[in-house]
Amino acid sequence: MVRRRSIVVRLLVVAVIGVLAFTGCSGDGPKQQKSVRHPRATVQPVQQVHGTAGDASIGDPYFPESGNGGYDVAHYDLRIRYDPTSPKVRATTTIDSVARVNLRSFNLDFAGLTIDALTVDGRRASFTRRGSELAIHPSRSIAAGHHFLTRVRYHGVPRTVTDPSESAPSKAGQLGWTRNPNGSVFVASEPIGARTWFPSNDHPADKATFDITVDVPGGIAVASNGALEPTETRNGRRAWHWSMKQPMATYLATVVIAPMKQESTASPAGVTIRNFFPSAAYDEDVPFFAKTGSMIDYFATLFGPYPFDQYGAVVVQPELGYALETQTLSLFGSDMLGTDIDAETTVAHELAHQWFGDSVGIRAWSDIWLNEGWATYAQFLWQAHADPKFNLNRFMVNLRASQEPDLTAPNDPGADGLFTDAIYLRGALTLHALRITVGDTAFFDLAQQWTAKYRYGTATTADFVALTGADTDPNRADEILGALVRTGSARGGD
Ligand code: ARG
Ligand code: ZN
Repeated sequence: MVRRRSIVVRLLVVAVIGVLAFTGCSGDGPKQQKSVRHPRATVQPVQQVHGTAGDASIGDPYFPESGNGGYDVAHYDLRIRYDPTSPKVRATTTIDSVARVNLRSFNLDFAGLTIDALTVDGRRASFTRRGSELAIHPSRSIAAGHHFLTRVRYHGVPRTVTDPSESAPSKAGQLGWTRNPNGSVFVASEPIGARTWFPSNDHPADKATFDITVDVPGGIAVASNGALEPTETRNGRRAWHWSMKQPMATYLATVVIAPMKQESTASPAGVTIRNFFPSAAYDEDVPFFAKTGSMIDYFATLFGPYPFDQYGAVVVQPELGYALETQTLSLFGSDMLGTDIDAETTVAHELAHQWFGDSVGIRAWSDIWLNEGWATYAQFLWQAHADPKFNLNRFMVNLRASQEPDLTAPNDPGADGLFTDAIYLRGALTLHALRITVGDTAFFDLAQQWTAKYRYGTATTADFVALTGADTDPNRADEILGALVRTGSARGGD
């Protein structure tokens, strides 16, 4: 229950988030997409339909080549064969989609790799490729509302794509399927790397469930999203089958192929945890994640139940310069666990993303602050919880003072500014300003309503603003946010 607020306080809320609404509501964003979980159609189209061509873009101005229109993906099934002795993969991806309109042709995002066969509903389909666009022309049009299965068999050496986030690039500056010199592989894709390893509707607005199976020689492990299904070793090889049963954005799909040892544990309240560490670094890595269980249970009291069936971390040996909230299995570059970077806050940050970013996804990349602002604020909340001497309110006030005047408003940072301080720090400051404005009870009510209302779906800044019940006054927000946090006199903080 949101407590009654005075007229003045209400004006503050309205204004604080108003600036966010300003571009969040602009008409240029991607088309509204409903949940991708559709009932399975039982009847195939009987008569020929006259379809249109599905769009080669989902309409996100940050990455116009990303995503596609005309259909929603319900499920991806990836089967990959890999040997560490060679960079090549052999793979088949089967995509269960639902046509939103009558489709004569449609596009997928797929970069590099050679296509050996492509069928739609079992019939050969012709296709053309241009850059990362794969345009498919099925032999019969697909009727609106019908499920159709696209199967792509392919092989080759996956090539990474350039990280567009110039202002805070990953160390390698590359995204997607990445092979280390020793033959180990990891996938880190945010925002546009998924197309390097499977054909997809590569945009967070179209979430889908996944099965990911990677067939490798014995002695090497495969970690991926969701639950590990039982499989056996045959002829010295094992096909590791992972099943992600809740919808997931393409950039959150990962696979790590390396000699790894698994640690199985659980949070005190019973959430399953499975961590994968490089065999050679197992003993060193385990302690960095010792508090994961307590963090899960603490965040569940703040943000609502942990949204998935399991959690865990996977550590990769290269230095990535960041960690990534890959769904149910956050991925850490080895440099995230050193002494110079506070590993515990990164562990808390990636965990919080499971609520903010993974379960509640974004519908447009311009709304990235909804992911990073919340994850960063949650990491501070954990610090305050774990250390009674940590004064959150004073910390936020100092943060605001030290960043001023560099921080621009967190909305609409541009495609090269997704991972900047304006998104992480200013995003967290915005949430703290909201908290001290409405009070703790209303703020954490709002957090729980947010994670419940948009669980497994996607949302926008406009949705966030609407949930607070606020109108908008974009002109005053920045001024008030600055004043609010600068004075530090308001209530709130631990
Ligand atoms: N979402 C990640 C995190 O903050 C950061 C990803 C950075 N990605 C990049 N391409 N630089 O947890
Ligand atoms: Zn983050």
